[in-house]
Amino acid sequence: MKKQIALVKGDGIGPEVVNEGIKVLKTIEKYTDYSFEFKDAPMGGEVWKNCGESLPQTSLNIMAQSDTILFGAVGLPDIPQGVAEKAILKVRQDLDLYVNLRPVKLYPSLHDMCPLKPEIVENGIDIAVFRENTESVYAQIGGIVNQETAVNSMVYTRKGVSRIIEYAFEYVSRNKFDELISVDKANVLTVSQFWRQIYQSIGKKYPSIKQTSYYVDAFCQWLIRAPSSIHTVVTENMFGDIVSDEAAYLVGSLGMGASGNINPNGVSMYEPIHGSAPDIAGQGIANPIGTILSVKMMFEESFQDAYLGEMIDKSVEIALEKIRTIDIYSKYAQNNSQINRVNCTEMGDAVCIQIKSVLKK
Ligand code: NAI
Ligand code: MG
Repeated sequence: MKKQIALVKGDGIGPEVVNEGIKVLKTIEKYTDYSFEFKDAPMGGEVWKNCGESLPQTSLNIMAQSDTILFGAVGLPDIPQGVAEKAILKVRQDLDLYVNLRPVKLYPSLHDMCPLKPEIVENGIDIAVFRENTESVYAQIGGIVNQETAVNSMVYTRKGVSRIIEYAFEYVSRNKFDELISVDKANVLTVSQFWRQIYQSIGKKYPSIKQTSYYVDAFCQWLIRAPSSIHTVVTENMFGDIVSDEAAYLVGSLGMGASGNINPNGVSMYEPIHGSAPDIAGQGIANPIGTILSVKMMFEESFQDAYLGEMIDKSVEIALEKIRTIDIYSKYAQNNSQINRVNCTEMGDAVCIQIKSVLKK
């Protein structure tokens, strides 16, 4: 199976972590039928400094013509605010990446990284948040009305709401979960009442999936009171932004989080949830797990290969039993002689050794 993968390494630690993602792909290529062709699609602050554009058209063309995209992070402290963000929003819009999927998983060996009491998370955390990625206040409708007033409109369309909810129901059904939680603010917002109607109407097609609606404020509480009971959540753009960051924090480090910006009928983009981390860039100490788990999502969502996805996940889990990067090298790890601190490439190597040991058989 030949796949072309566009690489947006980006700025700061972006290239460091993407290189570990490539390492995982090359290891898989060596032992399976997959064959990958990588094409660089430069984007972000460094490109902007060199050519005055943060998203050159040539890069966008490479992305649009690939099977899938692996993205690091963009943004630098010495470029104007908004330059990198604009490039990301343009890719999302042009490629119509309307599903933002963010899985949040607490690996057994990282329980000490969770800020919640052990009894609250003894049954683990394993949540997938589906965030609508194109509408709501991010549609950028509004502006400064006058010196005293500014407005942003929360825009929902039937098409936009329906397609994210349908994707989430299909995911729940395909992966045999038993519930899809919807998060809105229907006690106050008309747009949420519109959302809830569509959720309930699409839900009729999935009678075996339990359907629960939460108000966003109550859901944020529930997420820290009983995270083990939550598995699949669908919500609109801004609530999803907030809820998925809250959920990500429950597993301890930004460096662990993966995400997919998905167009189920087109090209999708996979990226760690963290930014370019200028404070640690160039030192080789960044955690590449968020990127490696983004590659796992690429297999599951774009290549429809649940087996290799699961295998990458298991390999990460095993690697984390003995080694940690700086961001997850907690007091507990420092006091445990069985756990060593490693750098970015050593972590990537350890995951690849696990993958190899499974695929070589
Ligand atoms: P950040 O995620 O880059 O860093 C926040 C903190 O987490 C820093 O202390 C950093 O060292 C640490 N960290 C992040 N990723 C890590 C990793 N893999 N391993 C170890 N430690 C890690 O967020 P920040 O500092 O707010 O933003 C820095 C730049 O990144 C800004 O220019 C921002 O606009 C951009 N950014 C880009 C994103 C993207 O490309 N999707 C997303 C978020 C921020
Ligand atoms: Mg955010």
